[in-house]
Amino acid sequence: MTRVFVLTNHKGGVGKSTSATHIAAGLVGILRRAGVSNPRVLLIDTDSQGHASLVTTGHNDYGTEDSLYAVLLAEREQAAQVLLKCIVSSTWDTDLHVLPASKLLDGAERELMGIAGAPYRLAEPLNQISKHYSAVVIDTRPSFSLLTEIALLAATDAIVPVEPRYLETVGLMSVIGKINAIREGWRHPQLRVSGIIVTKMDKRIRGHGQLLDELKGHPALGALLCGIIPANEAVSYAHHCHTSVYRYDPKASASQAYAQLVGRIAGQLFGKRGG
Ligand SMILES: Nc1ncnc2c1ncn2[C@@H]1O[C@H](COP(=O)(O)OP(=O)(O)OP(=O)(O)O)[C@@H](O)[C@H]1O
Ligand SMILES: [Mg+2]
Repeated sequence: MTRVFVLTNHKGGVGKSTSATHIAAGLVGILRRAGVSNPRVLLIDTDSQGHASLVTTGHNDYGTEDSLYAVLLAEREQAAQVLLKCIVSSTWDTDLHVLPASKLLDGAERELMGIAGAPYRLAEPLNQISKHYSAVVIDTRPSFSLLTEIALLAATDAIVPVEPRYLETVGLMSVIGKINAIREGWRHPQLRVSGIIVTKMDKRIRGHGQLLDELKGHPALGALLCGIIPANEAVSYAHHCHTSVYRYDPKASASQAYAQLVGRIAGQLFGKRGG
């Protein structure tokens, strides 16, 4: 079974897209270096803002025929073929493929509302084609809407990026509660919360350090902490150039932190999946 990672948090601007794109690209690199015969990774953008699509493909003008919109609106029997047709190669790496988002996704959500089986319109076709990939990474929008539900039902591992601020950590429990509610409510036992990433960490800010310590000491959340990404302006510069921070500046603190995180995720991917 191909592992499908979903980056989710209904809070905006916490680093979902940055983490999704860098985990996906980082996995390609690590799989290739490990000599895996198929190092391809698929990045799926479910956010109508299309930030992940824009930075990895140079475009965010995808529409009815060439984006996730087409997959969600396709006839059930054709959805897997449509999905394959909509996938494009990224400009970051030939083995990083992208199913782009579209601005039309908001409308798709309204069109799909109330249609039986709508929440599975990504999970079903993805299941049929995921064997072509070593891993899949899904970026989500900053809200808990049908599209996020669609993303979570297609996933096996939820990773929650969070900024080190008080309200974020309080909100974290509610994000985890919502993911668990999807697992229980939709009987999707494969989905689990597999990690929390603290993003934009600035050690000079005392509150950041305190919150990180609290998180580490938390009985449930501490064990889920899988990465700490420093606040690093190289990330914004890389975004501006539509490139990855790995390529923009491999020595940048964010590059190294994402590389470390991806190493950990790859370890999980190759190792046995624990409880
Ligand atoms: N480690 C970092 N250091 C500095 N800036 C960062 C870092 N990570 C992300 N950013 C910046 O923070 C902003 C938000 O990041 P990003 O788009 O990844 O968040 P998001 O959760 O996907 O946002 P949205 O909820 O709008 O989809 C971007 O401008 C990005 O360049
Ligand atoms: Mg985003």
